[in-house]
Amino acid sequence: MGIPFSTPQKEFEQIFDQWLVEVKSIASRGVFVGGQVVEKFERKFAEYCGVKEAIGVGNGTDAIYLALKALNIGPGDEVITVANTFIATVEAIHHTGARPVLVDCKEDSYLIDVDAVTKYINDNTKAIIIVHLYGRMVPATDLFEVACKKGIAIIEDCAQAAGARFDNKSSGNYGTIGCFSFYPDKNLGAIGDGGCITTSNNEVSEKIRKLRNHGGIQKYSHEIPGYNSRLDPIQAAALALKLEHLDDWIKIRRSVAQLYHKYLSDCDSIILPVNPGEEEHSYHLYVIRVKGGRIQRDALHKHLQKKGILTAIHYPLPVHLTPAFSYLGYEEGRFPVSERLANEILSLPMNISITEDDIAFISKEIKAFV
Ligand SMILES: Cc1ncc(COP(=O)(O)O)c(C=O)c1O
Repeated sequence: MGIPFSTPQKEFEQIFDQWLVEVKSIASRGVFVGGQVVEKFERKFAEYCGVKEAIGVGNGTDAIYLALKALNIGPGDEVITVANTFIATVEAIHHTGARPVLVDCKEDSYLIDVDAVTKYINDNTKAIIIVHLYGRMVPATDLFEVACKKGIAIIEDCAQAAGARFDNKSSGNYGTIGCFSFYPDKNLGAIGDGGCITTSNNEVSEKIRKLRNHGGIQKYSHEIPGYNSRLDPIQAAALALKLEHLDDWIKIRRSVAQLYHKYLSDCDSIILPVNPGEEEHSYHLYVIRVKGGRIQRDALHKHLQKKGILTAIHYPLPVHLTPAFSYLGYEEGRFPVSERLANEILSLPMNISITEDDIAFISKEIKAFV
């Protein structure tokens, strides 16, 4: 059997019967795109995040892209983000025609170095995308002040951070616009692709509602050139049911993190993630660092796999070293922290069905290996 890395099927089991009822009702009404079920989820999610509006879209990558388009960002503009993120953050910037400007991450949190960001702000800077990576919120209060004074938007990439909070605010209610992914293994995952944009800015929300639906809110009213990027009711029904469990599931994830800490904190050959405080981390991922670099990390990854323990690497290459973004011209060595992390990080199994015995076993195997 082994120990799986993530278990979206276990979360789904908890809503399956109620979801089937919803699906039958969707099928009998024959409304398979948009409609009341999507609107109901959007209301619930906006309330959960504490924002005026949540707008369902096709996936998290579209959420970021449409957020940038709603801010009229395009060729000649610059958008600052972090080198240590999933590729989608930078792809979304690229496809608007704007230039992605990358900065390094911090050694202790693995999150965007907000102090470094100000060095890269110039007259072309239109937005900054902060990424709440691994489920941990970026503490960016000072950056907000700077950005606000200069009229620069802060977009939160909340793909990994549904349910995390900072300064009494939910992810998605912290910047100008929040962008969520509901990819199945996320803390709040759909049963296929899905995404959402949150905002309290009426102008932005109206534009996004048009952009996601061929440029108009009503059918065949094409006010602006738009796209097709919609959350479908079958996903929205699952997400609305799962939202009821999200806080409990995050509590389980936090207790899993505590157990890893209990069993691994005496192991000198690895570095554990720092716990920033009760609410700030939703532990989408539990990422350790393996001293000794890529060879040692990869060997541990393989060793655990042989023992039936599935781990993952988020991510093996920082964005600037991928072939896709070599055109940006950042040479190796430019973002040393992100580059070091890519060699050392290993994400341990993190899910709501892992047991203390599993964690003790994983920890024993890590210690035996290193
Ligand atoms: C940080 C980050 N941003 C954006 C995305 C893109 O989301 P999606 O896969 O739903 O397009 C992901 C998905 O894994 C992500 O982890």
